[in-house]
Amino acid sequence: MSPTPVKVAVTGAAGQIGYSLLFRIASGALLGPDTPVELRLLEITPALGALEGVVMELDDCAFPLLSKVEIGDDAETIFDGVNLALLVGARPRTKGMERGDLLEANGAIFTAQGKALNKVAADDVRIGVTGNPANTNALIAMSNAPDIPRERFSALTRLDHNRGLSQLAKKAGVTVSEIKKLTIWGNHSATQYTDIFHAEINGQNAAEVVNDQAWIADTFIPTVAKRGAAIIEARGSSSAASAASATIDAGRDWLTGSPEGDWVSMAVVSDGSYGVPEGLIYSYPVITRNGDWEIVQGLEIDDFSRAKMDATAAELVEERDAVKALGLIG
Ligand code: NAD
Ligand code: LMR
Repeated sequence: MSPTPVKVAVTGAAGQIGYSLLFRIASGALLGPDTPVELRLLEITPALGALEGVVMELDDCAFPLLSKVEIGDDAETIFDGVNLALLVGARPRTKGMERGDLLEANGAIFTAQGKALNKVAADDVRIGVTGNPANTNALIAMSNAPDIPRERFSALTRLDHNRGLSQLAKKAGVTVSEIKKLTIWGNHSATQYTDIFHAEINGQNAAEVVNDQAWIADTFIPTVAKRGAAIIEARGSSSAASAASATIDAGRDWLTGSPEGDWVSMAVVSDGSYGVPEGLIYSYPVITRNGDWEIVQGLEIDDFSRAKMDATAAELVEERDAVKALGLIG
């Protein structure tokens, strides 16, 4: 007898990221080749027609692992019994728009979705937020779901992590799989800090291998931090396939485990580790296992890193205070 399907909700399912994400989930990339999946897709009413077209395509792929697809515009119906909720749907940033402008536009969405998850999701639910501003949207959803343990919420910084791996691999003339222990600290925004001082390339310290502080400070860190904006500039819309791929990577590693001898970057609720204010959704180096995560402790932080980690925390405090002032969190 085949195992019970895992119920995975995806919001914004008719959007750009959805169009890459759904097919990979249905093919087994998220849960593995032995786990059937039921997709539960949430959209706003005007996008349901387009979503029906996407479901026709899902049908036409005849994915053996896809047990059922449900679509709708009511969060409580779609989130009913879900084990994993990937909150992708949001108003994307367009050319010239500041991330701060997104806070208000998206606050209402994540308040309602947090409440709905609190009411109807499965007891073991995990919630990953991709929609921007991801950290603060996760904070809003978490704050509106008091019965779901806080560590079940995360925001996506895996795309930044992957971008960092790829830029560093090019510089060092290695493949991404030769790099371990890279860290994204803080916010999924231009203030994020990609730390390679604890990273390793084939077991050697990555910063020492690179041996070029000016490149790290003036090229590498800004290139990773501004990659999203560069893609918007080039494509005219935000990253989609890479964002979907990172959403899969993050969900898979959360549920099954980060690779042995390595860690991943994930924005999770701060317990005050590394001097980050408690309660912020802040990206840390984490080790994951069976749906749980643990912040990697004991890393030495020098003055250069400290200043960058504090700056991105300060931005998250500002975002938190802004949504508090809007009455979106208590
Ligand atoms: P998109 O505009 O193509 O799709 C978004 C979809 O969300 C639309 O179909 C829209 O109808 C839907 N939507 C809006 N409000 C909704 C609601 N209340 N409930 C359900 N669905 C709703 O955008 P996209 O390119 O797919 O990007 C989605 C989000 O992901 C954006 O916020 C974008 O900025 C963000 N993003 C995050 C990362 C990251 O690394 N964290 C990377 C890329 C993009
Ligand atoms: C990205 O990192 O590609 C996106 O978050 C950019 C954006 O603002 O939508």
